[in-house]
Amino acid sequence: MKLFLDTANLQEIREVASWGILDGVTTNPTLCSRENVPFEKLVKEICDLVSGPVSVECVSTRAEEIVPEARKLNGLAPNIAVKIPVNLEGLKATRVLSAEGIKVNMTLVFSPSQALLAAKAGAAFVSPFIGRLDDISHHGMELVEQILTIYENYSFETEVIVASVRHPGHVVEAALLGAHIATVPYSVMEKLAKHPLTDIGIDRFLQDWKKVAGK
Ligand code: G3P
Repeated sequence: MKLFLDTANLQEIREVASWGILDGVTTNPTLCSRENVPFEKLVKEICDLVSGPVSVECVSTRAEEIVPEARKLNGLAPNIAVKIPVNLEGLKATRVLSAEGIKVNMTLVFSPSQALLAAKAGAAFVSPFIGRLDDISHHGMELVEQILTIYENYSFETEVIVASVRHPGHVVEAALLGAHIATVPYSVMEKLAKHPLTDIGIDRFLQDWKKVAGK
């Protein structure tokens, strides 16, 4: 399973890259708005920090504007995946861009039918937002399961990025379902490695080691 970091923060990306488990990064306009770095500079710096795909979102809303915007974003670095919201205009643009070999991450996916159309349009990735579904009392992970089944039924190569992750349980559930990727905020990424019994165990071993060293 690949783990992406869901952030536009350079320090967070540097830190998680140093752990040796980072496969890519996803950004969105909200995440970019939190950083105090000009947009294109920010994107280029993020792309320098990771070798895997870096998702950067288009903000145009009509296909004829999304396509040139996506081409421009794609030209910023070799590891860009352009993020495009999954509606009819986004699907039209995705068909054109994927035919040119540009990797598209269709985002804001909330239904299996949207994911089916995204794959048919040639998207390299789809991003179901599971936390936002959970927030309105749906079961976000059911959507992931349905998308994975549909893609397997028809051998689509589109990879599923489980997005809008809120806690480590989401990552574990995604892995149990066989999702290709989870994109995880920094706070959740840290929690993936933590267990109180590990900390207690380390403390106890260190205390006992003092007795060994004193002999
Ligand atoms: O990539 C963005 C996606 O993960 C959204 O997360 O927490 O804003 O629902 P959130």
